[in-house]
Amino acid sequence: MARKKIALIGAGNIGGTLAHLAAQKELGDIVLFDVVEGVPQGKALDLSQCGPVEGFDAKITGTNDYADIAGADVIIVTAGVARKPGMSRDDLLGINLKVMKAVGEGIRDNAPDAFVICITNPLDAMVWALREFSGLPHNKVVGMAGVLDSARFSTFLAWEFGVSIRDVNTFVLGGHGDTMVPVTQYSTVNGIPVPDLVKMGLSTQEKIDAIVQRTRSGGGEIVGLLKTGSAFYAPAASGIAMAEAYLNDQKRILPCAAYVDGQYGVDGLYVGVPVMIGANGVEQVIEIELDAEAKSNLQVSVDAVKELLEACKGIDSSLA
Ligand code: APR
Repeated sequence: MARKKIALIGAGNIGGTLAHLAAQKELGDIVLFDVVEGVPQGKALDLSQCGPVEGFDAKITGTNDYADIAGADVIIVTAGVARKPGMSRDDLLGINLKVMKAVGEGIRDNAPDAFVICITNPLDAMVWALREFSGLPHNKVVGMAGVLDSARFSTFLAWEFGVSIRDVNTFVLGGHGDTMVPVTQYSTVNGIPVPDLVKMGLSTQEKIDAIVQRTRSGGGEIVGLLKTGSAFYAPAASGIAMAEAYLNDQKRILPCAAYVDGQYGVDGLYVGVPVMIGANGVEQVIEIELDAEAKSNLQVSVDAVKELLEACKGIDSSLA
């Protein structure tokens, strides 16, 4: 059986890390694409030379030509501009919308059967625009946000409770931004919901509220520290988990920016919800019951995503 093909559009910090992880896990052969000449080729050469040391069999190539992504099974998109300090995700809208147009058309013309994972911010708007520009089915285009957001939430909770990260399972809904909704009711330590742990005296509501807030601004915290870019290790690890779920038909339930049409009272919008990912892409949107607070927080998040889409339509009339 021929190896799978993974195309990475954008060979920056996340793109390079994605390539390294995909090679280490031998997910398939890897094509790194970027508009900047030399960067994808240089990174591909450098990463290829990890092979003998780390012992992976994966062919890694760099290109500036969309024709080279032909036949890709999975495409992960990180092309665009990353946030700088003081810049909100939404400031990126205009710049990255143009990038999504070029990338969407490149995918449409060269690899229309791929499963596409978008990471470029502002995520919920960019994944929607990428789907529109590419014309791929909605179940084959998904955004990476919730896996990362819940990883951040899990990290902070594991630190707070002093337990292994393996026993923490968290749940995050909504947009990838300040309006995201970490749901404590469905976040557990080995099955025990966080509110119960608070009742047991293992933490306080104030501390949990602070962790929820830290999760919401988790990306900005890292931008503030790095000063010259945004997070890339955990975003790449999260994108790879989604790619593996598709390639290995794992039927994993992961929080993703997926196309929601009817569930959660949302009509035709990309927003963060739990979905099942398997060989058919996004196979199911899982609709869980939310308490009144989570419901109203989700509505705030959905409204924020809607506003971004209106702004996109204002910038590019072909999206209206
Ligand atoms: N086509 C392909 N690649 C592009 C294009 C384009 N039209 N425009 C820019 N790029 C490339 C840049 O040349 C750069 O190599 O995208 C890459 C982005 O890499 P970084 O600037 O290192 O950004 P990174 O940290 O990888 O984040 C990428 O993911 O999390 C989001 O907010 C983040 O939107 C940003 C994206």
